[in-house]
Amino acid sequence: MIALAAAASAYGGSGVSVTFPGTNNTLVRLEKEGKYLVMPVQESNDEATVNVLVDGRLERTIYVRLAKSKVDYTVPLDIEKYKGHDVILNVVTSQNRATVREAKDDACWSNFAVCDTFDVSNHEKFRPAFHHTPPYGWMNDPNGLFYKNGEWHLYYQWNPYGSKWQNMTWGHSTSSDLITWTHHPAAIEPNGLGTVFSGNAAIDKDGSAGFGKDAVVALYTSAGVSQIQSMAVSKDNGYTFDIYSGNPVLCLESEARDPNIFRDPNTGVWTMVLAHPLDHEMLIFTSSDMKEWSLQSSFGKGLGAQDGVWECPDLFELPVEGSDERKWVLICNLNPGGPFGGSATQYFTGDFDGKTFKVDTDASGNVPLKWLDYGKDHYATISFSDAPDGRRTLLGWMSNWQYAAEVPTMQFRSANTLPREASLFRDADGEMYVSVVPSPEVEALRGSLVGKARKVSVGAKAKSYAIPELCEICLDINPLQTKMVEIELGNARGEKVTMCYTPSTSELSFDRTQSGIVDFSQDFPSVTVAPTLNAGGKLGLRIFIDRSSIEVFEGEGRFAMTNIVFPNEPYNTLSVKADGGKASISNLKIYSLKSK
Ligand code: FRU
Repeated sequence: MIALAAAASAYGGSGVSVTFPGTNNTLVRLEKEGKYLVMPVQESNDEATVNVLVDGRLERTIYVRLAKSKVDYTVPLDIEKYKGHDVILNVVTSQNRATVREAKDDACWSNFAVCDTFDVSNHEKFRPAFHHTPPYGWMNDPNGLFYKNGEWHLYYQWNPYGSKWQNMTWGHSTSSDLITWTHHPAAIEPNGLGTVFSGNAAIDKDGSAGFGKDAVVALYTSAGVSQIQSMAVSKDNGYTFDIYSGNPVLCLESEARDPNIFRDPNTGVWTMVLAHPLDHEMLIFTSSDMKEWSLQSSFGKGLGAQDGVWECPDLFELPVEGSDERKWVLICNLNPGGPFGGSATQYFTGDFDGKTFKVDTDASGNVPLKWLDYGKDHYATISFSDAPDGRRTLLGWMSNWQYAAEVPTMQFRSANTLPREASLFRDADGEMYVSVVPSPEVEALRGSLVGKARKVSVGAKAKSYAIPELCEICLDINPLQTKMVEIELGNARGEKVTMCYTPSTSELSFDRTQSGIVDFSQDFPSVTVAPTLNAGGKLGLRIFIDRSSIEVFEGEGRFAMTNIVFPNEPYNTLSVKADGGKASISNLKIYSLKSK
């Protein structure tokens, strides 16, 4: 006992005592009560298995990169709910240490601390100012998006215990304006069936699932040894969820994930699209109560981009601009196999009869390849259920699996795109495309008009304008007879992003090879190219710059291009020039944007 007490005081952090039963096994006992147990993380270290025991019973197991030689940042474990109980962490580290003495030297043990506050205010220079980000920790896909009672609910794939992927949990934020987000406690946490992978939520207006009218029903993938589909229900408008005791609600004999449920507006039947990732297809099921699902059809084998796994589907109907026609859009996110490597969002247009999706073909009978965004950082995009006024509002994860875990941020990783509104248009080539424009709420971000030009002529010598760190740039380009119009965003260190509009090919390229910090992954420096679908004519652009992202939209949303960037200093100059003659730039407006 004496020896133990001595060890505890030598190695305990604040409010904990630590004992070392073995070279790879350490016990951290809480010696006082508080709201959080702060755990020290070192990103480069292996994950330790942290078994949380409450009154001797295993409460949960999480995986944390506990610090070995230095503390990069800390993460909080919520311990308030264990007040009045004995809490011990039974930690198993993966390093094969030779001696207990060696284990004792790990930096983490003296840095555990029981506290009543955990500071999530984070001023990392690359944390976006007006995009949704998690309060701390890793984030990937948006999940369970829905709108109810004036509030937009956004759940997301979250690791609350580190800034790399692990411990998948549904984080939760809400907004009344799609711009300012309030963070809430985790909505759905891992249980014995597995961690909580992607899915979506629907409002059960008539209570057909048996949980009362207006219950919010979430379907998600429980990812354990295999992937099965589970349900969770919220009776308080999405703030807290009860995991359904009859889970799983769907169990296939092969990998399947990311259920997306909706009530078919034409048949009134609950419908689920489920990714069958390794078969590169989506499965379509129907149900009367969201608990029993019947397979109706599958879609996708051999169609579209097939180089990666198909994930995170969405299926919805949209009116076609300028006609009485309505068509269905099937979103099939894909990773890898995107047009510029890694993750991307492809979609198909077609008809849906409640059971089967019949894809549109082009004039030659082929199924055309269509991308929702032509940048490298737009993935896992899905739409909000029950958005007002028939809107189809989309949100995507603004990163790429190729390098998401390596980007130069620490306390948090990844942001979501600006919210976007989808509609359908038929192009001159006869093809149906989805257009995406920033949601109207985004305009409220505009501060002052810091630069403008009604009409200027540009040639080989660049015309330059000062731009603020957070800004929206609107401009119309008339290329006239020029070969290329170049738009550059740059800083005094020579870091730059170059966008080139080439009328002869009707393309806009985006080069971030010299955009700032690019060396954290060989897949990061890149050039992305979007078809402008304007027959080489005039091109209107809206460009949004946040601290570490650039989103480019054609004025009417005929294409979008999203790329993240990490400049050592903010870009402060916009330069425009033309190659081979004079081009005309009109309606140039530079707005400073507010930090949310
Ligand atoms: C897509 C994805 C999903 C999965 C989730 C896990 O980015 O791979 O298919 O549910 O991430 O975090």
